[in-house]
Amino acid sequence: MANNTQDKMDRLNSLCKRRGYVFPSSEIYGGLNSCWDYGPLGAELKRNIKTFWWEAMTNRRDDVEGLDAAILMHPQVWVTSGHVAEFHDPLIDCKICKSRYRADDIIGVTKCPKCGNESLTEARQFNLMFKTFMGPVEDSASAVYLRPETAQGIYVNFLNVKNSSRQKIPFGIAQIGKAFRNEITPGNFIFRTREFEQMEMQYFIYPSEDEKWFEYWREQRWNWYMELGINKEKLRWHEHGKDELAHYAKKAFDIEYEFPFGWKELEGIHNRTDFDLSRHQEATGKDMKYFDERFTEKFVPYIIETSAGCDRTLLTVLVDAYDEDPSRGDKSAVLKLSPKSAPIKAAIFPLVKKDGMPEIAEKIYSDLKKKFKVFYDAGGSVGRRYARMDEAGCPYCITVDGQTKDDDTVTVRDRDSMEQSRHKIAELADYLAVRVQVG
Ligand code: GAP
Repeated sequence: MANNTQDKMDRLNSLCKRRGYVFPSSEIYGGLNSCWDYGPLGAELKRNIKTFWWEAMTNRRDDVEGLDAAILMHPQVWVTSGHVAEFHDPLIDCKICKSRYRADDIIGVTKCPKCGNESLTEARQFNLMFKTFMGPVEDSASAVYLRPETAQGIYVNFLNVKNSSRQKIPFGIAQIGKAFRNEITPGNFIFRTREFEQMEMQYFIYPSEDEKWFEYWREQRWNWYMELGINKEKLRWHEHGKDELAHYAKKAFDIEYEFPFGWKELEGIHNRTDFDLSRHQEATGKDMKYFDERFTEKFVPYIIETSAGCDRTLLTVLVDAYDEDPSRGDKSAVLKLSPKSAPIKAAIFPLVKKDGMPEIAEKIYSDLKKKFKVFYDAGGSVGRRYARMDEAGCPYCITVDGQTKDDDTVTVRDRDSMEQSRHKIAELADYLAVRVQVG
């Protein structure tokens, strides 16, 4: 079983490389541990996921504003936020083979799992923040951190966004951006990496309404994964016990997905109370309190946070879509991506490279590409072209054949059912629009 699940991840990993979803970073130099690059299809899929999130979380709402804050922030932010003092993982080293473990991964273990010696150190706390230096001098005065979460960029801009947008509580601020954590044990392909992208939203509320908004955002976020097309049976909630709660959280629920390597966190919904704004108020002297006539007192808003990983969502989408179907011949892998997230929406083929078919197919391609990400392929047998598109996750293949010249129709082959139907060329754009567009 363990081998099967590892094999499945290996096969998905090699499909991702073969079709241009994900490549090892700096591969021609031997790669860099747990760093990955998104290829042409991966970059497109990631962009679709981010657009889908942004549309749902900001553009389709009146009460959430967008933000794009800098990765480098004033170093004091991370002292105030508690990350300098608290953002630690317990680390255990093997004195002989130098392997490193998170202490909570090897609870009760006395011998090094790799070399078998009784050579494990006591656990020591290891801060997960990446440090670098600003300017030419590398001293402690010029040290800055790569942000470990995008959330703090939102908190320090709370007043700026509130004042410029004239939003009233309850309202939210959303942003998508890179975050960095010096993880002790990154791995499982792009599941846990040291550089990753977050999609976070902070919702500012009246404190006594925290339960109501917590439940509201749990429901919204669950529904988002449904709309993304993730299999409901593979998702579940996990409530954080007292010992799991982050230093800022009063309550936290994770949405978990059942990956081949087990149930793992996909997104966290957190009640951060007034922890962050109060700490920033105390550290800077800036008044974070809120007042409007609907409430009888001035108060520091509570925050309900929704925090999703973009790379982890992308892995979920890929794992959820990956299927092996022997009826498709020797190339049996197929990515059953939802048409909304699929990087290529349709492929256009001439059945053969003669009899005027390429010219008609090229014209269809150039018309459709004004509206959709489409792909033209005239190479090899149609069967091989279907197989390549199945692996790429393309939901529709459009073929120009001998009949096209007579009646202006083409075949559209559905990736999942493999059924073909005939359609007028003039109706193709509408056919795709209702199936692939978000919203
Ligand atoms: N602002 C709150 C926060 O950062 P978190 O639970 O530490 O909360 C939120 O992270 C999400 O970010 C996770 O659910 C996961 O999707 C993603 N994430 C966290 N660490 C990650 C890592 N090392 N690699 C990839 N994604 C990660």
